[in-house]
Amino acid sequence: MMAHGVLLILLGLLLQPEPGTASYPLLMDLVIKALEDLEQKALATEATPRAFSSLLSVQKTRAHDLFHSFLFERQDLKVIKLGPDSLSPELQGLLERVTQHGVQDGQEHGVVLAPDGSTVAVQPLLAGLEAGLQGRRMVNLPLNSTVFPWDARTISPGLGVASPDVTSPNGEDAWPEANATLPTSVDSLLAITLARDLGLTFLQNTQTQGHPGLGSEGCWDQLSAPQTFTLLEPKASPLTAAFLNGALDGVLLGDYLSRTPEPRPPLSLLLSQYYGGGAGVAREPKLRSNFRRQNAAALTSAATLAQEVLGALLLLQRLEPTHPQLKDTNLGQMTRVARHASKEFTEAFLECPAIHPRCRWGAEPYQGQPTPLKLPLGFLYVHHTYIPAPPCTSFSHCATNMRSMQRYHQKDRGWDDIGYSFVVGSDGYVYEGRGWHKVGAHTLGHNSRGFGVAIVGNYTAELPTETALRAVRDELPRCALRSGYLRPDYKVLGHRQLVNTLCPGEALFNLLRTWPRFASDVKQRAARGASLKRPRDEPRPALLETDSQ
Ligand SMILES: *[C@@H]1O[C@H](CO)[C@@H](O)[C@H](O)[C@H]1NC(C)=O
Ligand SMILES: *[C@@H]1O[C@H](CO)[C@@H](O)[C@H](O)[C@H]1NC(C)=O
Ligand SMILES: *[C@@H]1O[C@H](CO)[C@@H](O)[C@H](O)[C@H]1NC(C)=O
Repeated sequence: MMAHGVLLILLGLLLQPEPGTASYPLLMDLVIKALEDLEQKALATEATPRAFSSLLSVQKTRAHDLFHSFLFERQDLKVIKLGPDSLSPELQGLLERVTQHGVQDGQEHGVVLAPDGSTVAVQPLLAGLEAGLQGRRMVNLPLNSTVFPWDARTISPGLGVASPDVTSPNGEDAWPEANATLPTSVDSLLAITLARDLGLTFLQNTQTQGHPGLGSEGCWDQLSAPQTFTLLEPKASPLTAAFLNGALDGVLLGDYLSRTPEPRPPLSLLLSQYYGGGAGVAREPKLRSNFRRQNAAALTSAATLAQEVLGALLLLQRLEPTHPQLKDTNLGQMTRVARHASKEFTEAFLECPAIHPRCRWGAEPYQGQPTPLKLPLGFLYVHHTYIPAPPCTSFSHCATNMRSMQRYHQKDRGWDDIGYSFVVGSDGYVYEGRGWHKVGAHTLGHNSRGFGVAIVGNYTAELPTETALRAVRDELPRCALRSGYLRPDYKVLGHRQLVNTLCPGEALFNLLRTWPRFASDVKQRAARGASLKRPRDEPRPALLETDSQ
């Protein structure tokens, strides 16, 4: 069979770094540097140079587990083993630290900070790259075993698919195909990056009656030289934002690799294009880490993923009949878990905007005592920042804008905090301001009745990017609705409808009027029950935008 790629195995990765070896900061750029060094070394030993892609295998001495070896017999890969002296002790130490993902005592291990401000687990990323190099493929499940005494083609109603508790708690069945068939194969790429972990984590939580709380964010000890990552929810499940980011990146890049004919680009080049914030992979501006959720949503559907999760659980049970979580689990339970897991993942993570928490952009603390919002709220008020006028298109640019707006609001205006609830960049990210729970200072006289969301830029004559618009129009409200932060009948208003200002700019406001949730009869709405009492953190009747004529 044709070699699909080259697998680099770095020997000695298990060795603990020498005591006293300086620890490199946990940055994606340094992981890429390590890969680059390894690829150079491999190139020097390779007889037919340049015609390969390479991969660092993060093998520990425990052989790859059964699941992995079932999916990847590795027949298609040429293996190059590199000695432990292939990397500097610092880079070797870095790889040692980042190649195993885990959550323990509120800290997350095996994650690095990427240039787009996201935190990424390296293990599922590398797994996806490996799957891509092997050629993404459907692997038949060994379903004819006696472990599966049922008909492997269809699930009869009694076995779970059509049973009443398959429907979601609020009664609607999310799955039109109630007659779904049992999977007979799994997609190697989805199985190794995402499906197995989704299945096992949701199974665990079903068994303990808990809820996995998908996509938990965390804070780095410092952004310039990050070393430890502490989760904001100490009891977070292993399906953190960083894990899911790494898994999505693995899926997207693995898919790209498997579609790319030889000679493939070196992985270090691929990763630097993907994370680097430049032109994107193969000059495809959207194929960047910034847009991983949208790209992954286009690649798979909840229904497909549910089949993959079920397939992964069936395979695991077949391979490890004594697996503690699977040995007493029947097909009906697995089917329910698979559906629930993929629905939650899709609705609570994939289709929600990626929000950088305050610590990520370097926010100063809230000054004083915040007033809690009484949720759910009925309004989303749209703003533009006006100043800064240019849209921010990179994490460093947007984070700098956030800090300068906070400084202005706290120091010059005398407010407790940055005024907005959320700020939307043109880099694919939403930045947390006062968030979902605290009264903001964005729409004078109406701050406790709606969330204030600003898009960085001056939209007097121009429109925001489609990505930024989609975040405000679709993603943020959809997820707020789902979480109970917005009322089902919520309305969207422009700042100028409530306050004497030109904000959110003529061009953006004209577009806003065409949105389905836009409310034009705002004066009446606002008059009904609007509190005239000024929130405590607005010491004077200042208007919020510089264009407050
Ligand atoms: C199950 O399938 C495998 C591979 O397709 C085959 O070798 C084996 O004989 C089958 N076993 C039974 C019990 O049908
Ligand atoms: C379910 O049944 C409907 C109607 O018979 C059919 O159109 C659809 O393709 C079936 N779905 C699956 C997943 O088999
Ligand atoms: C905002 O855009 C308008 C229209 O292009 C322009 O007249 C105005 O000077 C801009 N303001 C700032 C602060 O850039």
